[in-house]
Amino acid sequence: LFFIGCGSEKKEEKIIKENPIQLGEYILKFSHVVSPDTPKGKAAEFFEKRVEELTKGRIDVQVYPSSQLYKDNAVLKALKLDSVQMAAPSFSKFGKIVPQLALFDLPFLFKDINHLHRVQDGEVGQKLKDMVNEKGYIALDFWDNNFKQLSSSKRALIVPEDVAGQKFRIMSSKVLEEQFKVLDANPQVMPFSEVYSALQQGVIDGQENTISNIYTKKFHEVQRYLTITNHGYLGYLVVISEKFWNTLPKELQNAILQAMKESTIKEREYAEELNIKQYNLIKEYAKTSGKLEIINLTKEQKDFWRKTVSKIYPDFYDKSLIGEDLIKGVLATE
Ligand code: LMR
Repeated sequence: LFFIGCGSEKKEEKIIKENPIQLGEYILKFSHVVSPDTPKGKAAEFFEKRVEELTKGRIDVQVYPSSQLYKDNAVLKALKLDSVQMAAPSFSKFGKIVPQLALFDLPFLFKDINHLHRVQDGEVGQKLKDMVNEKGYIALDFWDNNFKQLSSSKRALIVPEDVAGQKFRIMSSKVLEEQFKVLDANPQVMPFSEVYSALQQGVIDGQENTISNIYTKKFHEVQRYLTITNHGYLGYLVVISEKFWNTLPKELQNAILQAMKESTIKEREYAEELNIKQYNLIKEYAKTSGKLEIINLTKEQKDFWRKTVSKIYPDFYDKSLIGEDLIKGVLATE
């Protein structure tokens, strides 16, 4: 919220007279499912601050973290109805709207984060944003989390066969489902907000997520083994309700675009910083508690994981799933 000051009523009246701008003329609710201390959480707060500064409080941004407002893909329906104005769901959660965004879920498709950014900032990224716009949303920028790691309470995951027979939580995504099926594991779709208790109660054996999501939701405290696989990427597309966007005067739309541009730069920095910082905190926990084993794979082991799971790419060549052109477009991106 943007404060005018906390003085008496008289003082408040004077400020409003001198400054005829209407504070909180527009309310922009931004709903997400992760903790505030994650790349998305921090960038959402930065965005709030910048929009309120740039619009001098005409837009009041209200950030709701940790699934307080909407869980997982429910937010996309709410955006359509303008019950919420902004969200940054992970790509998997667009499954019913633009399944092609699952391109980013394909394991080991990207060489590294720079390769991924070149894809997002290039032709393939624009094509995907256009598809989302056609469905009646305003697609803004791609935001990072990082690469995902695998954890389990049952067995140290060193070779792909170690995953067989175990139940893993996945986001609702055909790619993630296939990724575990090809390993003879049992994928279970579950909202992010339910993962911790499902792990704690043994409803599932393991999960895959980024370091910041694992650390801030304490998944590592209810798992026995964590393997640094960096097998798949987790990122977001920031979207705004079209209905809301169309009510905004041009100068406020521009302020949002400006704040967004700055937030995206910050977001990428937060993603990098937090991944390192929170990985060190998890390592510290492993060392002091003795309850978690962290496994780092050798290059040969990692190549074996890559070879095993990348077999699923051709299953998604169909245009209604992802499309051969998009998959090959990534592979051809330098
Ligand atoms: C998940 O459900 O694991 C992620 O999409 C959470 C998030 O938004 O990072």
